[in-house]
Amino acid sequence: PNPHIPVITIDGPTASGKGTVAQKVAQHLGFHYLDSGALYRLTALSVMRRDIPLDDEHALAKAAEHLHCHFNGAHIFLANEDVSNDIRAEAVGNLASKIAAIPTVRQALFGLQLSFRQHPGLVADGRDMGTVIFPHAGLKVFLTASVEARAQRRYKQLIDKGFSANMEDLSKDLTERDARDSNRSSAPLKAAEGAYLLDTSAMTVDQAVAQVLGWYAASKPA
Ligand code: DC
Repeated sequence: PNPHIPVITIDGPTASGKGTVAQKVAQHLGFHYLDSGALYRLTALSVMRRDIPLDDEHALAKAAEHLHCHFNGAHIFLANEDVSNDIRAEAVGNLASKIAAIPTVRQALFGLQLSFRQHPGLVADGRDMGTVIFPHAGLKVFLTASVEARAQRRYKQLIDKGFSANMEDLSKDLTERDARDSNRSSAPLKAAEGAYLLDTSAMTVDQAVAQVLGWYAASKPA
């Protein structure tokens, strides 16, 4: 991984819309895209399928270290199975949040995340992209939205994917997940030093994308 390749980091809480915004920014700039949450979700799915107990940290870290995954456009594969939809289930997201609190699991996914930094550039989204994985990124964004706005977006996302969902459970899940992701000692969710804050509660995706692109253009020397 070349430290001169530009990186834009977009961190934020679950269902803040950071994934959609990050993908569109990447598309616009012709950059690569890293969905780091997908790596934790893939690890969670693999752990679920193999019935690894949550207190077996060694086995959890091994599962992360030997993740046989690849990305092809919007499709995400575990071994050779397309699990793009399976990893979006709430149960998988909740388990991902639990195992993501374990430092050895995070360590196991470190190198894989760095390897996404390739020419001509990278947009990376997650919780610790700007704080831990790419602390020297040229542009860092912390993207938030109210719990209500996020619950509504997640609801629509799940229904569109054919999952069942209810708003009350979703709001409760989101709040719990925020607390766990923000209060853990290893790489907690927080705005990186120098990050621009973007509250998208009342913004369209296109407005948020335009704002990030504007910041990026301003951040580059003329
Ligand atoms: O962004 P997401 O909802 O797909 O992420 C799922 C979980 O993975 C999230 O609750 C916490 C964890 N995660 C993390 O700890 N660090 C990241 N960089 C990305 C995700």
